[in-house]
Amino acid sequence: MRIDILTVVPELLESPLNESILKRARQKGLVEIVVHNIRDYTTDKHRQVDDYPFGGEAGMVMKIEPIFQIIEKLKSEREYDEVIYTSPDGKTYNQQEANYLSTLGNIIILCGHYKGIDHRIREHLITREISIGDYVLTGGELAAAVLTDSIVRIIPGAIGDEASALTDSFQDNLLAPPVYTRPAEFNGWRVPDVLLSGNFAEIARWQEEQAYDRTQRLRPDLLE
Ligand code: ADE
Repeated sequence: MRIDILTVVPELLESPLNESILKRARQKGLVEIVVHNIRDYTTDKHRQVDDYPFGGEAGMVMKIEPIFQIIEKLKSEREYDEVIYTSPDGKTYNQQEANYLSTLGNIIILCGHYKGIDHRIREHLITREISIGDYVLTGGELAAAVLTDSIVRIIPGAIGDEASALTDSFQDNLLAPPVYTRPAEFNGWRVPDVLLSGNFAEIARWQEEQAYDRTQRLRPDLLE
């Protein structure tokens, strides 16, 4: 899979994409992630990526030309399955969407900034608009990092223990059951006996019950 991320602040993406599971997935060749600085695609002397909005509102708008240039260049090099724009007014992101995106071959993620992007980009070049929640970030970079992380970690081979990604919260619309590790008792607080029993059928049953109880208590909307 290849993910091209278009941004005016590439520095914001450096660390999240270069540590831990993402770093290893890139090293293993499971995913190629290329961050592009939109400013490199400007042609004017001041390398201007934003401009005043028509209509005279406050704030700046990302210009169409450099974004058009870079998307056209990428599209001339390979086919893209989706061109995603991260924005608070996009469709709210969830695990199902992450599962879908992780099955694709090539995607572009355009990070919004300032007041937003010239709307013609959304009308003519973007195929999917995604919000990571009902709050406003200073830019789409952190949202792009969230998308990329959630996509890459479920590519087969990215997580050492294959079963681990499948037992994540949300994969079956249930929250994950609680987990424990050694010591079995700390400060008088004991791990549930069933987990120490060695009876794997019973452990699986307990985990299912816990997942269901936790979901009912904390996120009943997932059961509807
Ligand atoms: N850009 C700013 N806020 C955002 C959000 N909540 N989701 C995605 N992109 C954003």
